[in-house]
Amino acid sequence: MKLFQTISELRNELEAVRKQGKTIGLVPTMGALHEGHASLVKKAVKENDVVVISDFVNPTQFNDKNDLLKYPRTLEADCKLLEENGASYVFAPSVEEIYPETDTRQFSYAPLDTVMEGKYRPGHFNGVCQIVSKLFLIVEPDKAYFGEKDFQQLAIIREMVRQYPFNIEIVGCPIVREHDGLALSSRNARLSSEQRNQALQISKTLFSSCEFGKSHSLADTKSYVENKIEESEGLRLEYFEIVDGNTLQTVSNWDDSDYIVGCITVFCGEVRLIDNIKYKG
Ligand code: PAF
Repeated sequence: MKLFQTISELRNELEAVRKQGKTIGLVPTMGALHEGHASLVKKAVKENDVVVISDFVNPTQFNDKNDLLKYPRTLEADCKLLEENGASYVFAPSVEEIYPETDTRQFSYAPLDTVMEGKYRPGHFNGVCQIVSKLFLIVEPDKAYFGEKDFQQLAIIREMVRQYPFNIEIVGCPIVREHDGLALSSRNARLSSEQRNQALQISKTLFSSCEFGKSHSLADTKSYVENKIEESEGLRLEYFEIVDGNTLQTVSNWDDSDYIVGCITVFCGEVRLIDNIKYKG
């Protein structure tokens, strides 16, 4: 496995790879890697001749400076995990390498990016599209891998690829959970053991709401989740929306769509956690 910090060195290497007729997979990450990322890398390794993992905490997608400062940075441990999982190249550039000047590009995919995370984290998806589009232009992968935990991000990236247009296949990968259901996230590292226990209530509630939803209306199921989280010690609900999985717009009845997903964001102390559950589709 080779580590690159500059765009030109990585591109030189990939040019040689491409000349040999090899396919390239890309797994964009912000580092602090865990088994969820490992599952993306494993899938990418199976489906491509070489795999590039970007490890870059992208400042333009943070609307909260404190969150950016506190984001864990663990490049050495990340490289170990990546090597064990068969990655070919790690791209860990500096902020100056990626943004030698302010990126003024504006990406707008309304109404996909105006709801949920788009509403609560203004500018977040613009920053995500800035970095992901740069990575696509730098690496020119055949396929790129993203986790379904960031459900809205995945939908927006698919739309960006469609509109840009990039000739890249976007592969969505299922959420990886701990044995007790907690969705893996780099932010979990910031939870105390007491908070980790409290955070478990998020996935528990989502799972039980699937059962609840079978015999109750969509509106009652939404209230069920909201009430359970609001009653849970240590948790503060930011939003829970039940949406059409393609348009991300809220639905009112179970019959409104064939693809229905519940998306939730909860603060556990200062740590902002997201999760989702598929009800239909
Ligand atoms: O999902 C993430 O970790 C980030 O949003 C991504 C896609 C790597 C862009 O910085």
